[in-house]
Amino acid sequence: MNEKKGTLYGVGVGPGDPELITMKAVNVLNRADVVFAAASTKNTDSLALRIAKPHIPDTIPVRLLHFPMTREESEKLKAWEDHAGTIIDELAKGKRVVFITLGDSMTYSTYGYILKHVLKMAPRFPVVSIPGITSYQAAAACLNMPLVEGEASLLLNSGADGGERLRRFKEKPESVVFLKAYRNVEDIALAIHEAGVYDTSVGVSNCGQKDEQVIRDIDALCDQRPNYWTLILAKNNKQDGS
Ligand SMILES: C[S@@+](CC[C@H](N)C(=O)[O-])C[C@H]1O[C@@H](n2cnc3c(N)ncnc32)[C@H](O)[C@@H]1O
Repeated sequence: MNEKKGTLYGVGVGPGDPELITMKAVNVLNRADVVFAAASTKNTDSLALRIAKPHIPDTIPVRLLHFPMTREESEKLKAWEDHAGTIIDELAKGKRVVFITLGDSMTYSTYGYILKHVLKMAPRFPVVSIPGITSYQAAAACLNMPLVEGEASLLLNSGADGGERLRRFKEKPESVVFLKAYRNVEDIALAIHEAGVYDTSVGVSNCGQKDEQVIRDIDALCDQRPNYWTLILAKNNKQDGS
Protein backbone atom coordinates (compact mmCIF):
# COMPACT_ATOMS: atom_id res chain seq x y z
CA MET A 1 0.00 0.00 0.00
CA ASN A 2 3.05 2.25 -0.42
CA GLU A 3 2.15 3.02 -3.99
CA LYS A 4 2.85 6.57 -5.07
CA LYS A 5 1.10 8.38 -7.87
CA GLY A 6 3.30 9.17 -10.85
CA THR A 7 2.08 10.79 -14.04
CA LEU A 8 2.39 9.53 -17.60
CA TYR A 9 3.17 12.13 -20.27
CA GLY A 10 2.73 11.10 -23.90
CA VAL A 11 4.78 13.57 -25.88
CA GLY A 12 4.76 14.15 -29.65
CA VAL A 13 8.22 15.43 -30.59
CA GLY A 14 7.49 16.57 -34.16
CA PRO A 15 8.52 15.01 -37.47
CA GLY A 16 12.28 15.51 -37.54
CA ASP A 17 13.31 19.16 -37.68
CA PRO A 18 14.78 19.75 -34.20
CA GLU A 19 13.09 23.18 -34.10
CA LEU A 20 9.62 21.69 -34.67
CA ILE A 21 9.23 20.45 -31.11
CA THR A 22 6.88 22.37 -28.82
CA MET A 23 8.01 24.30 -25.75
CA LYS A 24 5.60 22.19 -23.72
CA ALA A 25 7.34 19.00 -24.90
CA VAL A 26 10.76 20.46 -24.04
CA ASN A 27 9.59 21.49 -20.56
CA VAL A 28 8.18 18.03 -19.84
CA LEU A 29 11.36 16.32 -21.10
CA ASN A 30 13.48 18.55 -18.86
CA ARG A 31 11.56 17.52 -15.76
CA ALA A 32 11.14 13.80 -16.53
CA ASP A 33 12.27 11.05 -14.15
CA VAL A 34 12.45 8.50 -16.96
CA VAL A 35 11.94 8.70 -20.72
CA PHE A 36 10.66 5.79 -22.82
CA ALA A 37 10.86 5.53 -26.61
CA ALA A 38 9.63 2.86 -29.00
CA ALA A 39 12.00 0.90 -31.25
CA SER A 40 11.52 -2.14 -33.42
CA THR A 41 12.80 -5.49 -32.16
CA LYS A 42 15.20 -5.47 -35.14
CA ASN A 43 17.21 -2.40 -34.13
CA THR A 44 17.95 0.09 -31.38
CA ASP A 45 17.28 3.19 -33.41
CA SER A 46 14.49 5.56 -32.48
CA LEU A 47 13.97 8.66 -34.61
CA ALA A 48 11.79 10.17 -31.86
CA LEU A 49 14.73 9.77 -29.47
CA ARG A 50 17.17 11.39 -31.89
CA ILE A 51 14.82 14.39 -32.11
CA ALA A 52 14.23 14.63 -28.37
CA LYS A 53 17.81 13.84 -27.21
CA PRO A 54 19.08 17.46 -27.11
CA HIS A 55 16.25 18.26 -24.68
CA ILE A 56 16.80 15.34 -22.29
CA PRO A 57 19.29 16.12 -19.50
CA ASP A 58 22.10 13.50 -19.31
CA THR A 59 21.03 12.52 -15.80
CA ILE A 60 17.61 11.25 -16.93
CA PRO A 61 17.47 7.56 -17.82
CA VAL A 62 16.24 6.72 -21.31
CA ARG A 63 14.76 3.28 -21.99
CA LEU A 64 13.83 1.74 -25.33
CA LEU A 65 10.71 -0.38 -25.55
CA HIS A 66 10.97 -2.88 -28.39
CA PHE A 67 7.89 -3.55 -30.48
CA PRO A 68 7.72 -6.46 -32.94
CA MET A 69 7.13 -5.49 -36.60
CA THR A 70 4.39 -8.08 -37.08
CA ARG A 71 0.78 -8.33 -38.21
CA GLU A 72 0.22 -11.09 -35.62
CA GLU A 73 -2.34 -9.55 -33.25
CA SER A 74 -1.48 -11.76 -30.24
CA GLU A 75 2.21 -10.86 -30.50
CA LYS A 76 1.41 -7.15 -30.70
CA LEU A 77 -1.02 -7.36 -27.78
CA LYS A 78 1.60 -9.06 -25.61
CA ALA A 79 4.15 -6.33 -26.38
CA TRP A 80 1.67 -3.54 -25.57
CA GLU A 81 0.63 -5.17 -22.32
CA ASP A 82 4.24 -5.88 -21.28
CA HIS A 83 5.35 -2.32 -22.07
CA ALA A 84 2.31 -0.78 -20.40
CA GLY A 85 3.23 -2.91 -17.35
CA THR A 86 6.82 -1.56 -17.38
CA ILE A 87 5.47 2.01 -17.47
CA ILE A 88 2.95 1.30 -14.71
CA ASP A 89 5.80 -0.02 -12.47
CA GLU A 90 7.49 3.39 -12.78
CA LEU A 91 4.22 5.27 -12.17
CA ALA A 92 3.72 3.25 -8.97
CA LYS A 93 7.09 4.60 -7.74
CA GLY A 94 5.71 8.14 -8.12
CA LYS A 95 7.77 8.92 -11.25
CA ARG A 96 7.15 11.46 -13.98
CA VAL A 97 7.20 9.05 -16.90
CA VAL A 98 7.53 10.41 -20.43
CA PHE A 99 6.76 8.32 -23.52
CA ILE A 100 8.01 10.10 -26.63
CA THR A 101 6.60 9.54 -30.08
CA LEU A 102 7.34 10.89 -33.54
CA GLY A 103 5.18 13.69 -34.92
CA ASP A 104 1.88 13.97 -33.09
CA SER A 105 1.08 11.73 -30.14
CA MET A 106 -2.51 11.18 -31.32
CA THR A 107 -1.87 10.39 -35.01
CA TYR A 108 -0.98 6.81 -36.02
CA SER A 109 1.22 6.58 -32.95
CA THR A 110 2.50 3.72 -30.79
CA TYR A 111 1.60 5.97 -27.90
CA GLY A 112 -2.10 5.46 -28.72
CA TYR A 113 -1.75 1.76 -27.85
CA ILE A 114 0.35 2.43 -24.76
CA LEU A 115 -2.23 4.98 -23.61
CA LYS A 116 -5.12 2.56 -24.13
CA HIS A 117 -3.42 -0.20 -22.16
CA VAL A 118 -2.21 2.01 -19.30
CA LEU A 119 -5.70 3.50 -18.91
CA LYS A 120 -7.20 0.00 -18.91
CA MET A 121 -4.63 -1.66 -16.63
CA ALA A 122 -4.09 1.21 -14.18
CA PRO A 123 -6.75 3.92 -14.53
CA ARG A 124 -5.71 5.41 -11.17
CA PHE A 125 -2.70 7.20 -12.69
CA PRO A 126 -3.07 10.63 -14.29
CA VAL A 127 -2.12 10.87 -17.96
CA VAL A 128 -1.24 14.02 -19.90
CA SER A 129 -1.01 13.79 -23.69
CA ILE A 130 0.95 16.51 -25.44
CA PRO A 131 0.40 17.01 -29.18
CA GLY A 132 3.16 17.44 -31.72
CA ILE A 133 3.43 18.72 -35.26
CA THR A 134 2.54 15.91 -37.65
CA SER A 135 4.70 14.77 -40.56
CA TYR A 136 2.13 15.87 -43.11
CA GLN A 137 1.73 19.36 -41.59
CA ALA A 138 5.51 19.75 -41.84
CA ALA A 139 5.50 18.39 -45.42
CA ALA A 140 2.70 20.77 -46.50
CA ALA A 141 4.65 23.68 -45.00
CA CYS A 142 7.88 22.62 -46.70
CA LEU A 143 5.99 22.54 -50.03
CA ASN A 144 4.26 25.90 -49.32
CA MET A 145 1.08 23.97 -50.10
CA PRO A 146 -2.00 24.77 -47.97
CA LEU A 147 -3.62 21.45 -47.13
CA VAL A 148 -7.27 22.50 -47.20
CA GLU A 149 -8.99 25.75 -48.01
CA GLY A 150 -12.50 27.15 -47.87
CA GLU A 151 -14.99 24.32 -47.32
CA ALA A 152 -12.70 21.58 -48.65
CA SER A 153 -12.08 18.22 -46.93
CA LEU A 154 -8.90 16.32 -46.15
CA LEU A 155 -8.68 12.52 -46.11
CA LEU A 156 -5.89 11.25 -43.86
CA ASN A 157 -5.04 7.68 -44.81
CA SER A 158 -2.76 4.85 -43.95
CA GLY A 159 -1.16 3.60 -47.14
CA ALA A 160 -0.87 0.08 -45.73
CA ASP A 161 -3.78 -0.98 -47.97
CA GLY A 162 -2.45 0.96 -50.95
CA GLY A 163 -5.01 3.22 -52.62
CA GLU A 164 -8.07 1.19 -51.53
CA ARG A 165 -9.45 3.70 -49.04
CA LEU A 166 -9.37 6.52 -51.58
CA ARG A 167 -11.09 4.32 -54.18
CA ARG A 168 -13.94 3.66 -51.73
CA PHE A 169 -14.83 7.36 -51.59
CA LYS A 170 -17.42 8.01 -54.31
CA GLU A 171 -17.05 11.76 -53.87
CA LYS A 172 -13.32 12.37 -53.64
CA PRO A 173 -12.06 14.73 -50.92
CA GLU A 174 -10.26 17.80 -52.25
CA SER A 175 -7.02 16.81 -50.46
CA VAL A 176 -5.61 13.46 -49.48
CA VAL A 177 -2.61 12.38 -47.41
CA PHE A 178 -1.12 8.90 -47.33
CA LEU A 179 1.20 8.05 -44.44
CA LYS A 180 2.87 4.61 -44.23
CA ALA A 181 3.04 4.82 -48.02
CA TYR A 182 6.43 3.21 -48.67
CA ARG A 183 5.45 -0.38 -49.55
CA ASN A 184 2.48 0.53 -51.73
CA VAL A 185 3.46 3.65 -53.65
CA GLU A 186 2.52 2.11 -57.03
CA ASP A 187 -1.06 1.36 -56.00
CA ILE A 188 -1.40 4.72 -54.22
CA ALA A 189 -0.16 6.53 -57.34
CA LEU A 190 -2.62 4.53 -59.44
CA ALA A 191 -5.56 5.40 -57.15
CA ILE A 192 -4.60 9.08 -57.29
CA HIS A 193 -4.50 8.97 -61.11
CA GLU A 194 -7.79 7.00 -61.27
CA ALA A 195 -9.51 9.61 -59.09
CA GLY A 196 -8.90 12.09 -61.91
CA VAL A 197 -9.29 15.17 -59.71
CA TYR A 198 -5.83 15.76 -58.25
CA ASP A 199 -3.66 18.20 -60.16
CA THR A 200 -0.87 18.13 -57.58
CA SER A 201 0.59 14.96 -56.06
CA VAL A 202 3.91 14.94 -54.27
CA GLY A 203 6.01 12.48 -52.28
CA VAL A 204 8.06 13.74 -49.33
CA SER A 205 10.68 11.57 -47.64
CA ASN A 206 12.57 12.31 -44.39
CA CYS A 207 10.78 15.63 -44.00
CA GLY A 208 12.70 18.10 -41.83
CA GLN A 209 15.83 15.95 -41.78
CA LYS A 210 19.18 16.43 -43.51
CA ASP A 211 18.27 13.96 -46.25
CA GLU A 212 14.79 15.41 -46.91
CA GLN A 213 13.60 14.66 -50.43
CA VAL A 214 10.66 16.11 -52.36
CA ILE A 215 9.52 14.04 -55.33
CA ARG A 216 7.09 16.06 -57.42
CA ASP A 217 6.38 13.24 -59.86
CA ILE A 218 4.81 10.37 -57.96
CA ASP A 219 5.45 7.99 -60.86
CA ALA A 220 9.15 8.69 -60.32
CA LEU A 221 8.62 7.98 -56.62
CA CYS A 222 7.44 4.47 -57.58
CA ASP A 223 10.74 3.81 -59.36
CA GLN A 224 12.94 4.69 -56.42
CA ARG A 225 11.61 2.42 -53.67
CA PRO A 226 11.11 5.10 -50.99
CA ASN A 227 11.94 4.44 -47.35
CA TYR A 228 9.54 4.13 -44.41
CA TRP A 229 9.70 7.88 -43.70
CA THR A 230 7.75 8.75 -46.83
CA LEU A 231 4.32 10.29 -47.27
CA ILE A 232 2.24 11.33 -50.26
CA LEU A 233 0.08 14.45 -50.54
CA ALA A 234 -2.41 14.98 -53.34
CA LYS A 235 -4.59 18.02 -53.88
CA ASN A 236 -7.27 19.34 -56.17
CA ASN A 237 -6.18 22.96 -56.51
CA LYS A 238 -9.65 24.25 -57.40
CA GLN A 239 -10.84 24.28 -53.82
CA ASP A 240 -10.41 27.78 -52.51
CA GLY A 241 -13.39 29.27 -54.32
CA SER A 242 -11.14 31.68 -56.25
C1 LIG B 1 3.33 5.37 -37.68
S1 LIG B 1 3.16 6.78 -38.68
C2 LIG B 1 3.56 8.07 -37.53
C3 LIG B 1 2.86 9.36 -37.83
C4 LIG B 1 3.26 10.45 -36.86
N1 LIG B 1 2.73 10.20 -35.54
C5 LIG B 1 2.81 11.83 -37.34
O1 LIG B 1 2.21 12.58 -36.53
O2 LIG B 1 3.09 12.20 -38.47
C6 LIG B 1 4.63 6.67 -39.63
C7 LIG B 1 4.47 7.34 -40.98
O3 LIG B 1 4.48 8.76 -40.81
C8 LIG B 1 5.11 9.36 -41.95
N2 LIG B 1 6.26 10.14 -41.47
C9 LIG B 1 6.63 10.31 -40.20
N3 LIG B 1 7.69 11.16 -40.12
C10 LIG B 1 7.97 11.52 -41.39
C11 LIG B 1 8.94 12.38 -41.99
N4 LIG B 1 9.83 13.04 -41.23
N5 LIG B 1 8.93 12.54 -43.34
C12 LIG B 1 8.01 11.89 -44.11
N6 LIG B 1 7.08 11.06 -43.60
C13 LIG B 1 7.06 10.87 -42.27
C14 LIG B 1 5.54 8.22 -42.88
O4 LIG B 1 4.51 8.06 -43.85
C15 LIG B 1 5.59 7.03 -41.94
O5 LIG B 1 5.40 5.81 -42.64
